[in-house]
Amino acid sequence: MEILFVASEVAPFSKTGGLGDVAAALPAALVAHGHAVAVVSPRYGGIDPGRAGFEPRHRAVRVRGEPTTVHVRRTGRLVHYLVEHEHFFGGRRGLYGEHGHDYPDNAERFAYLCRAALAVPAALGHRPRIVHLNDWQTALAAWLLRAEHAEDPAISAARTVFTIHNLAYQGVFRKELLPALGLPWEVFRFDAMEFHDRLNLMKAGLVFADALTTVSPRYAAEIATPEGGEGLDPLLRHRRADLHGILNGIDVRAWDPATDPALPAHFDLHRLAGKRVCKEALQREVGLPVRADVPVVAVVSRLVEQKGIDLVLAALPELLRRELQLVVLGTGRHDWEGALARAAREHPHRLAVRLGFDEPLAHRIEAGADVFLMPSRYEPCGLNQLYSLRYGTVPVVREVGGLADTVEDFDGWRRGTGFRFRDQEPKAMLVALWRALELRRDRRAWHAMVRRGMAQDFSWGRSAARYEELYDRLVG
Ligand code: ADP
Ligand code: GLC
Repeated sequence: MEILFVASEVAPFSKTGGLGDVAAALPAALVAHGHAVAVVSPRYGGIDPGRAGFEPRHRAVRVRGEPTTVHVRRTGRLVHYLVEHEHFFGGRRGLYGEHGHDYPDNAERFAYLCRAALAVPAALGHRPRIVHLNDWQTALAAWLLRAEHAEDPAISAARTVFTIHNLAYQGVFRKELLPALGLPWEVFRFDAMEFHDRLNLMKAGLVFADALTTVSPRYAAEIATPEGGEGLDPLLRHRRADLHGILNGIDVRAWDPATDPALPAHFDLHRLAGKRVCKEALQREVGLPVRADVPVVAVVSRLVEQKGIDLVLAALPELLRRELQLVVLGTGRHDWEGALARAAREHPHRLAVRLGFDEPLAHRIEAGADVFLMPSRYEPCGLNQLYSLRYGTVPVVREVGGLADTVEDFDGWRRGTGFRFRDQEPKAMLVALWRALELRRDRRAWHAMVRRGMAQDFSWGRSAARYEELYDRLVG
């Protein structure tokens, strides 16, 4: 089956979070199952297509009459396309914004991506039966396919799947933008893209896609409730029969502690010695005292409300009083970055903070830490807890969304892969963390837990098979 997959970020070419990882790994897994997948994303300023193995096709597709270049990279049945647009993508350093502010023209930018992606099949010889869209940036394509490609033999018969990676980001804009986006006023209705008198681009996906998915079963249930629905729960309840929760997998090759090129030493389920070397090296790298006995607790995260960083900040005084080391890697809210940096200056032996996006360091933290903290307010799936499990780092997580679906709470005896807490409160988080550190005093029990986590299988195979079933059902 041919599939056209569209995403605003695709690792390793572009990434700000888990979407980039999924948009890299899911298409690859589908190809491994025998399908042909074309993945379309923008050529952002940070990407050098030539160095990344792409070749340009000049003026290959037309977007609203204007020709543009796409860069092509073919790996067997997997083809990546990067859409060129100097003003919208090439000339920008960020993906969605800079210095904590979204670009003001994000609606136009991603409407452009949608139109370019839908133009690819006819221009470059694809005949996708499925168009798989991801998050608000690509949602408009579900409507455009019906409205602007009804006569396009390459794609008119395709069915659409829209995956919600994060319902909180909906792409909401002033309604006055409609004409500039080339959209007729008839889409500005409550049963199309209108939302509290504004334009909501995610609704284009939620209303017009043939099937909806999200990235864990628990999140699928949560977003159909008023508490988790971000104002869209009535619509999601209306489409409940078409909404599927399919857990994300992880790229077990890119995230393999036995071969990971970012690590100073390697380890696996049967030989854990390398993990100790990774811990020492991490402590040295981030400037903490090198001590095997002191537990290293890690956070790698976007520093935004979703991730519950406020809990970590509120608990800092208590955390800094204990015999532990805290390592934080992240970027996001300026006030939180400031507070963390200040605390790190005051407690250089207890807290190390790295503000920025640093992929290799993220790998070294996963490998070197003892405990990974994820107190998310909500979490559609979450990948870091899965990387943690694979790297022998015990996750302490809030019991929501994908975290609840993937981390099993320690039963006090011999079951469980991590520690969970329910209340969105610093105290509840600390109780779970203290439970973890308590267990760590018992070396045997701790290693048994580490091994249970490492033995879990979160590779893409099973999840990709669920997407395949869904595609099959849609195309009949
Ligand atoms: P989300 O997509 O909501 O940010 P996920 O847990 O699904 O959460 O995915 C986060 C991904 O981004 C992981 O691959 C994680 O390692 C990575 N990541 C987040 N922040 C950073 C950072 N500051 N530096 C490097 N990688 C990061
Ligand atoms: C979003 C979610 C995260 C999920 C990722 C990939 O960024 O916040 O929970 O893992 O998408 O689906």
